Amino acid sequence: MIVKTQDLTRIYQLGTSIISAVNRVNLEIRDASFVTILGPSGSGKTTLLNLIGLIDQPTSGKVYFRNQDVSLLTDKERRNIRLHSMGFVFQTFNLLPTLTTVENVELPLALAKISGQLQHKRAIELLTAVDLSHRLHHRPRELSMGEMQRVAIARALANDPCLILADEPTGELDTETGSEIIKLLVDLCQGKKTTVLLTTHDKKVAEVADERYYIQDGKLEYESS
Ligand SMILES: Nc1ncnc2c1ncn2[C@@H]1O[C@H](COP(=O)(O)OP(=O)(O)O)[C@@H](O)[C@H]1O
Ligand SMILES: [Mg+2]
Repeated sequence: MIVKTQDLTRIYQLGTSIISAVNRVNLEIRDASFVTILGPSGSGKTTLLNLIGLIDQPTSGKVYFRNQDVSLLTDKERRNIRLHSMGFVFQTFNLLPTLTTVENVELPLALAKISGQLQHKRAIELLTAVDLSHRLHHRPRELSMGEMQRVAIARALANDPCLILADEPTGELDTETGSEIIKLLVDLCQGKKTTVLLTTHDKKVAEVADERYYIQDGKLEYESS
């Protein structure tokens, strides 16, 4: 099991209103699986991914990463897991606008203290794998949305993570570009046995998975595939 959650709960309190954004979620994700979570806007997808991605901390319940209770780790240990073992893909790409394609992909490699020359070589390999070797020196605003998401996928894969967390990666894309992005994720991750956890509000996108879940009002349900 790469990820396991136990009664995972995240409550937001805004004035007098209390929202259980993630409500007693029990989830087990097997190594090398492709898992989707389908749910409407506001159902808790981002909150759940942020908890599993060690970006946010639960109100109650646990996240285990490779059988390790992450609440027992220091901030530094959590940061190291995020940097070396996880890759993140977002709905709005989150590329740095002033950096070129190749520099965006080099960034996580630099954070991992890979030498400059190797960073560059690896970034070019990754961008070639997502079919962007002809866009190395473009900046995000000079790319199409589909291209931006491919850069983000290359960046997410940079440090060879064992888990990709993709939060509505096709949310901003047209149907055809969205399917290409999903196919790319499936191809790249199946080849390397990288586990993928992907959220979407699109039923068609959710169907590509080995394991499918549905989330509503913070409650997660398993859907037989
Ligand atoms: N920082 C926050 N403060 C208060 N409420 C929040 C916050 N973030 C999310 N929520 C609420 O939690 C619920 C789940 O949000 P979210 O996880 O973003 O859903 P989704 O990603 O499925 O659209 C929503 O009702 C949202 O309004
Ligand atoms: Mg969201």
